[in-house]
Amino acid sequence: MAFNKRSLLFFLFLCCGVLISHAVVDDDTTSSRGGGQWVVLQRSVGISAMHMQVLRDNKVIIFDRTDFGPSNISLPKGRCRSNPKDLALKLDCTAHSILYDVASNTLRPLNVQTDTWCSSGAVISDGTLIQTGGFNDGFDKLRSFTPCNEAKCDWVELPEPLTNTRWYSSNHILPDGRIIVVGGRSVFTYEFVPKTFNGKTSRANYYLKFLRETMDSVPFAENNLYPFLHVLPDGNLFIFANKRSILFDYDRNRVLREYPVMPGDEKRNYPSTGSSVLLPLKLTGLGNGTRLPDAEVMICGGAFPEAFPLADQHRVYMEAARTCGRLKVTDPHSKWVMEEMPTPRVMPDMLILPTGEVIILNGARNGSAGWEDAVNPVLSPVLYRPDEPEPLERFQVLNPSKSPRMYHSSAVLLPDGRILVGGSNPHKLYEFTAYPYPTDLSLEAYYPYYLGPEHNAVRPSIIEVEAVKNTVSYLEKFSVTFSLQEYRPVPGISLSLIAPSFTTHSFAMNQRMLVLHVSTVHKVAPFTYKVKAHGPLSPTLAPPGYYMLYVVHTGIPSVAVWVQVK
Ligand SMILES: *[C@@H]1O[C@H](CO)[C@@H](O)[C@H](O)[C@H]1NC(C)=O
Ligand SMILES: *[C@@H]1O[C@H](CO)[C@@H](O)[C@H](O)[C@H]1NC(C)=O
Ligand SMILES: *[C@@H]1O[C@H](CO)[C@@H](O)[C@H](O)[C@H]1NC(C)=O
Repeated sequence: MAFNKRSLLFFLFLCCGVLISHAVVDDDTTSSRGGGQWVVLQRSVGISAMHMQVLRDNKVIIFDRTDFGPSNISLPKGRCRSNPKDLALKLDCTAHSILYDVASNTLRPLNVQTDTWCSSGAVISDGTLIQTGGFNDGFDKLRSFTPCNEAKCDWVELPEPLTNTRWYSSNHILPDGRIIVVGGRSVFTYEFVPKTFNGKTSRANYYLKFLRETMDSVPFAENNLYPFLHVLPDGNLFIFANKRSILFDYDRNRVLREYPVMPGDEKRNYPSTGSSVLLPLKLTGLGNGTRLPDAEVMICGGAFPEAFPLADQHRVYMEAARTCGRLKVTDPHSKWVMEEMPTPRVMPDMLILPTGEVIILNGARNGSAGWEDAVNPVLSPVLYRPDEPEPLERFQVLNPSKSPRMYHSSAVLLPDGRILVGGSNPHKLYEFTAYPYPTDLSLEAYYPYYLGPEHNAVRPSIIEVEAVKNTVSYLEKFSVTFSLQEYRPVPGISLSLIAPSFTTHSFAMNQRMLVLHVSTVHKVAPFTYKVKAHGPLSPTLAPPGYYMLYVVHTGIPSVAVWVQVK
């Protein structure tokens, strides 16, 4: 561990001298928890991972855009895409999407027909990805991808268009199983997908004044694109854009509450891109599980109002936002509590780990999102411990990657607890030789501290999930059998459900984690234990769909198994 610490300090000294005075590097937690490890999985997957979604069969669908020119991976013979509307290449025999298989570290090209640039998506209850919008001929398109066993499934263009163009919009799966699509460039509406669902028909679209009000036009920079969306325990939607946020009843098209403005001058949404997570919802300690938990949102990074125009027009790169804010959104008197990251960061990705900690990674120290608009990549992820009472101990700088992950990079949590990281292309087209930030086609994995071999003895391994009809039903009991070398009753076992995110532009849409109410742990055989738990109270807590279920023992998570919550 001393080696890790030294190499980290060396790195900081080499490339970001300013960091040292702020970073909480040289403390005991670094050596006891460890800074993790980076492994390059693929030097080139042929495309740049602008959008990523983990599917229920442990494959990851990855795509960038069709109007990028030739990628570095061919479509299967005879499958070229001929599109007179393509802005870069009318006959394109290269792929702009791939399916990556986590277990075998292999991939195959997929054929996406219309432009998915800066689009959004959500996985519905049967595990199908519904993907919305994009650019050019993809502005109002709906596409789907359903996992399959044979290596045959591919993108399907759906016949019904969206009502509005959705470029830079955000999506969320709703408790009733529909998807809400919110905002987009110069679009101040939201709409539902599908429009008719379970006998209920929604309007074509709904105006939301908040989206217009949060758009900055002077200096030209929207700062409200890819709004942050989180479904709260009561089913209403938290929407954050620019530096404002509301509690929104989408069924009645009514703003229920406006939260205090986030303090500071910093803006948090594209192009001043920060990130946002709904911190883990804790269903433990709520008696028989029929009370709703509190919810808290955390937003980190972003840029100051002048950052985008200065970078875009004058190639001057301001320092990015250093602050994070936490807001207890279910508290009637909620107030932002501000904290400082060890490093300023624009375009951070924020992912919840199975331990309930948050990892902040990717992005840059100067500039903003947009083409050629950032410099000074931040190569070290930061671990954030939401429950740590001592503020200075909450952040920990982790071991750095070697690859800058600038604009159009992404990251997702894998079922095995690693973080899959890819992409980066701050250019208008593919530019494989640009300096210093070429279009990056590589895929890397970050291994958090809990995957270290020193934790093998306490790492649980799931053997079986017993549940009625193999699904974790709302409020129903279910049990999980797992094996373990050394059981430690204190602090014992917890179960986490994590919804896999659709990540793009530094926002992990639909990401949520629930810590379930666990009742009893029994030893059923040597090294084998069974834990009983309650499914979440309602779809407002956990919208229906496939979740990764982790057993966590003394802070060390198992590999997840997929469970369907319905
Ligand atoms: C849970 O507890 C509450 C209050 O203690 C009670 O009213 C309710 O009936 C209980 N529900 C179940 C499903 O046990
Ligand atoms: C990054 O921002 C800092 C603080 O404003 C500035 O001193 C530095 O020159 C910037 N770096 C670059 C490469 O522009
Ligand atoms: C393109 O792919 C080839 C092999 O498939 C690889 O050798 C090359 O490095 C890739 N180019 C880039 C820029 O990654």
